[in-house]
Amino acid sequence: MTEQSPWPDLEGIAYGGDYNPEQWPREVWREDVALMRESGVNLVSVGIFSWALVETAEGVFDWSWLDELLDLLHANGVAVDLGTPTASPPAWFFATYPEARVISRDGTVMGFGARGMASHSSPAYRAAIVRYADALAARYAEHPAVVLWHVHNEYGVPVGEDYSPQSVAAFREWLADRYGDLDGLNRAWGTAFWGQHYTDWSHVGAPAAAPSTVNPAQRLDFQRFTDHQLRACFILERDAIRAHASQPVTTNFMANQSLTTDLWAWGREVDIVSDDHYLWAADEQAEIGLAIAADLSRSVGGGKPWILMEHSTSAVNWQPRNTAKRPGEMARNSLAHLARGADAILFFQWRASRSGAEKFHSAMLPHGGTSSRGWKEVVDLGAKLGRLGELRGSRVRSEVAVLWDFESFWAQDLEWRPSDDLSHAERIRAYYERLWLDGVTVDFALPGHDLSGYKLVVAPAQYLLSAADAENLTRYVEGGGTLLVSYFSGVVDETDSVHEGGYLAPLRTALGVRVEEFLPLREHQTGQVAFGEQRITGDVWQEHLVLEGAEVVGRYLEGPATDEESDAAAITRHRHGAGTGWYVSTRLDVAALRPVIDAVYADAGLAPSGRAEGLEVVTRHGADADYVVAINHRDEPAAIDVTGVDLLTGASADGAYTVPAGAVAVLRTGTDRA
Ligand code: GLA
Repeated sequence: MTEQSPWPDLEGIAYGGDYNPEQWPREVWREDVALMRESGVNLVSVGIFSWALVETAEGVFDWSWLDELLDLLHANGVAVDLGTPTASPPAWFFATYPEARVISRDGTVMGFGARGMASHSSPAYRAAIVRYADALAARYAEHPAVVLWHVHNEYGVPVGEDYSPQSVAAFREWLADRYGDLDGLNRAWGTAFWGQHYTDWSHVGAPAAAPSTVNPAQRLDFQRFTDHQLRACFILERDAIRAHASQPVTTNFMANQSLTTDLWAWGREVDIVSDDHYLWAADEQAEIGLAIAADLSRSVGGGKPWILMEHSTSAVNWQPRNTAKRPGEMARNSLAHLARGADAILFFQWRASRSGAEKFHSAMLPHGGTSSRGWKEVVDLGAKLGRLGELRGSRVRSEVAVLWDFESFWAQDLEWRPSDDLSHAERIRAYYERLWLDGVTVDFALPGHDLSGYKLVVAPAQYLLSAADAENLTRYVEGGGTLLVSYFSGVVDETDSVHEGGYLAPLRTALGVRVEEFLPLREHQTGQVAFGEQRITGDVWQEHLVLEGAEVVGRYLEGPATDEESDAAAITRHRHGAGTGWYVSTRLDVAALRPVIDAVYADAGLAPSGRAEGLEVVTRHGADADYVVAINHRDEPAAIDVTGVDLLTGASADGAYTVPAGAVAVLRTGTDRA
């Protein structure tokens, strides 16, 4: 095995995108590379969907066009992120191995003509991907253009779960590995209920569509298994590449936009984290969703620099209404990713396709050509990134962690939960948005991580929480940390079974409270809470809390919790060891969270820098300097207090510095070693 490089061998910040030139004649290739030079592009992803044009029949490879392309790019100073096209096997593959097609939960056999149709558990598919990755790496490991390997494309979409016979067989093996024997499986799945007890492994299946809701522990395990199978395919390809090549290997994640893979586990397998991020047009503050994606990408990579592998210059083509980006928005998006740790800013795709499924998707070189505003902004962004090379390798630091656990997402989002209005994603967004508006930079973390470096840990929705992870959170509070937990947390263990002792039981020591009964509200029902002198309004959810040492800092004034013979406690605070545990038992929106989180900040010894509306400020810390990136999302100028040099304009800042409407400033300042 060859030793891997930590980062692609490139100068400065990487800039470019997916390049699919097999759609075009050679004269267009020559124009492409000239325009890449003009716009400062130094890295393109090649070959991600090229299987059918390279392996033209089983074991028959035509490298001629790829040889020519890599040589042309290299001659023009453009480096290559070389893809394995295993997300889209050729027609001949499915004709030869029809059993490798995916079967969906309702039993539909997925046809050819799209992409992502192959079964992750098919021996024929696995043999084919290893053969391709091996041949590709053997041929190009020494090619001077290749600086990075890009395995597959977006594992888990459009197909994750597979209900084919080979997948079911592999699921049984995975279960036997996890539980040892059928007794273990029966216990974990609680099969004594509804008469599901298994007596033979061959009777155990995937949780296919059934007359009523399917055993939730079985469904959760099938999600875990799916994630494991996809990762096993990645590892097969990665290792086939590593046998020949020393460049780093990556695959493109979808951070918070697809929840089918456990990115904490994936982060340990890639050399560099890459992420694809697309704005949700319906989200009026899409920059906050972007920030979540960027912080999650950095966090699953352990804080190391990461690659923004894809985003869009303007509209996408797959949402209900695909809004175009407004002038300056693409640069703000790109530099917001950079602010949060991305050292490579890439797009899907270089040149807009004339044919096929994605012809209405924007591109660096749009259908409108080089006279378009879009192209001018692409050239301008290339020039900007060219001035930011010294940021490379600098790091983001955070004093606050927000818990993000994919398994808890999977478990909570299964059927037959106490209320349809419970949403894991919604709670994470609300708490994150509160922190974003307050100018607090956060990391994401798992409840089992070492959290001791954080002043505040927020658990917006930790429905599934193992006893060991709860113990870790309790120790965190004991050691002086501040923990803020929102409702419907600490409910079940790894097998989706309610904790002994009831809801929240594993956190009762840290929080000084437990939950006797859930009290979901009707649609549109609200319940006022007295919080100090203030009245704040919750909705969706209340709980009957039983105090075990916590003080009541918020009390329900209306709603079912006031009917109980209890303190009508809504929000509690508990000193435990050297720290404090907060619990919030109703759904507060971003505005209503403000007074609560202000009190939590005070306990945590945090003094958020400010609340300049629409101004996003993140600092990257380098060896010799810090870099303050200020992104003004507003239509009017915004002022920040900073001393340094704006690397984008060359202007000096001495105290108050104005960031024009819609613009970004990147200021080199002195180091802050605090
Ligand atoms: C994904 C895929 C790309 C392309 C884009 C379009 O991220 O990886 O191939 O389809 O979406 O937005």
